[in-house]
Amino acid sequence: MKLIVECREFCNMDASMRYKRLLEKKPDAALGFATGATPLELYHELARLYRAGEISFARARAFNLDEYVGMNSDNANSFRYFMNKYLFGRTDFNVANTYMPYCLSRESLTASHYELLIEQAGGIDLMLLGIGRNGHIGFNEPGTPFGSITHVQQLSEETRAANSRFFYSPTLVPTYAVTMGIATIMHARSIILLAYGREKAQAVHDMVAGPVTESVPASVLQLHPDVTVYADAEAAALL
Ligand code: PGA
Repeated sequence: MKLIVECREFCNMDASMRYKRLLEKKPDAALGFATGATPLELYHELARLYRAGEISFARARAFNLDEYVGMNSDNANSFRYFMNKYLFGRTDFNVANTYMPYCLSRESLTASHYELLIEQAGGIDLMLLGIGRNGHIGFNEPGTPFGSITHVQQLSEETRAANSRFFYSPTLVPTYAVTMGIATIMHARSIILLAYGREKAQAVHDMVAGPVTESVPASVLQLHPDVTVYADAEAAALL
């Protein structure tokens, strides 16, 4: 695991260069994306590079990490809406090549279909992750088996509370989400994880310096051969 502790601006710029280099080499790369507050500046930077003619996503394939169960894509709180707004709609992504682990009800999930789509794309070349305050990656909450693939996950109260900032009322935060599993994430060839802010410091410490344990899902990344963690000074404060 490579750890880069720098200001957010540097981290986002450096991470954006990973996309530029990858897409120059492999224009149809399969990219795994995350939502939330953390990747926003990186997405702004990727859109800027696109407008400057320095990067093209025209042939890239996108696979998002997670989505709330039962949320339509036109709902402003859906991750599909977020991705269209901040990245896909601001670049030359072909929306037909962008995928979410979509499911309308807990019963209707065909996890194996999402896994198959990823497999048919040749596997994910570059996976982007954030980290939850409890160490989750995607919506894989503490205790999720390392062998898990795409599945429906009940969200912890901590995660629902953290995500309530995006909702009109905390009661509107869904209770279930569908997420790539830990094994799905670990199959990506390369992984970038962004962690910004003091509230991520304990999770970053446990991910980087703690034991590899299912009670800290992100700690599994210690076992992956190509992970870069970008952290600002606040998120790295306990290391
Ligand atoms: P955040 O979420 O970027 O909004 O902090 C990260 C996560 O929970 O994975």
